[in-house]
Amino acid sequence: MRTQVAIVGAGPSGLLLSHLLAAHDIESVVVETRSRAHVLGRVRAGILEHSSVELLTAHGLGQRLTEEGLRHRGIHLQWPGERHRLDFVELVGRGVWVYGQTEVTKDLVAARERAGQQLVYEVTDTEVHDVDTDRPYVTCVDADGVAQRIDAEAVVGCDGSFGPSRHAVPEAARRTWERTYPYAWLGVLADVAPSTDELIYAWHPDGFALHSMRSPTVSRLYLQVPQGERVEDWSDDRIWTALAARLGHGQDGWTLNPGPIREKSVLPMRSFVQSPMRYGRLFLAGDAAHIVPPTGAKGLNLAMADVALLAPALAALLLRKDGALADAYSATALRRVWRSTHFSWWMTTMLHHNGDPFDAELQLSQLRWVATSQAGARGLAENYAGLPLDW
Ligand code: FAD
Ligand code: DHB
Repeated sequence: MRTQVAIVGAGPSGLLLSHLLAAHDIESVVVETRSRAHVLGRVRAGILEHSSVELLTAHGLGQRLTEEGLRHRGIHLQWPGERHRLDFVELVGRGVWVYGQTEVTKDLVAARERAGQQLVYEVTDTEVHDVDTDRPYVTCVDADGVAQRIDAEAVVGCDGSFGPSRHAVPEAARRTWERTYPYAWLGVLADVAPSTDELIYAWHPDGFALHSMRSPTVSRLYLQVPQGERVEDWSDDRIWTALAARLGHGQDGWTLNPGPIREKSVLPMRSFVQSPMRYGRLFLAGDAAHIVPPTGAKGLNLAMADVALLAPALAALLLRKDGALADAYSATALRRVWRSTHFSWWMTTMLHHNGDPFDAELQLSQLRWVATSQAGARGLAENYAGLPLDW
């Protein structure tokens, strides 16, 4: 088949890109290894920056988000014996929204299906070819075992951290940076009303804990665990006991309400950046080009920011033969990527216990400064609520 843009991966970056391209009258085909049900059911991120919400709303994807999303003015930052509220709206004039990646994906799939978008699920053996020419193409094998070739004018790798696209940039033309962390997150989804109005980020000598939510009846909680931890070693009781201790159950009358756990998984933590994000007619977006540890709630937002830049760049390149924005895409996107990479690393290293008593004192000192100084609080707020898309 032939299309204008072949998109590899139907995660948020691939789906949103196809939606934004359609607004420029650019046709695309999206190929995806997983099934439609898997794509729609995945539980991942939960926080949308101000500018991500503006982007979705401006492109007709804001209705359910506005009705069902939870608007938060800030977060709670805590360590044993102390909880401090940071009001982002007061500090920097912008808040965030709690609206799960699962819901964003559902809205995107619904919008793309309504528009007749070609979404090809359950493909295997995806490969990208001839990206250093004007006629790049993608090959894969479809769910019926039939070999497919998608000829395009540009290929976009939106295939996440394990996809093949980024490896299509020749080794001599790419540079990567990576940092692994000696811990992971155990994430749970529980059918219980959140015990807090806004998210709680908690430093604790047993390890970091985060109380988030998905709706007035569903809580999302995370615990720092050692890298390589097995989900099977965490019974529901063990999880609730650890959460209660780390989140300060009983402190100043605050209680954590336990409830039935619906989903548990262990998430590894890693920082990764590949540059450039464009090679010839291959463009990378989202986790295919960069991964951040989840502590700053940036992964999903960064994926959206990439494609917000990329869609007009592809429109100019393909419709008007104007390559200026496409030429600038990588450098422009990487500015935000490195800002989010730094913020995510900073939040991660400030909040996770690594067993070193000197580091623990530095973390507590930093937390106290961030929570009690206007300058410190504004730095966190500005990054967390998100810089404007044209930053
Ligand atoms: P993805 O969502 O990874 O989508 C890539 C898509 O490409 C997938 O659908 C994949 O199946 C598909 N694909 C892969 N290989 C191929 C191939 N060969 N051919 C075709 N398709 C392919 N961020 C946060 O901020 N907070 C969180 O709590 C959080 N939790 C996370 C939990 C997990 C388990 C993971 C993996 C990520 C989490 N993230 C979190 C990060 C956030 O979800 C990502 O940054 C976001 O999904 C990036 O979107 P994307 O579309 O670029 O990549
Ligand atoms: C959620 C995930 C995060 O990584 C984060 O920093 C805040 C919230 C969540 O899944 O709700």
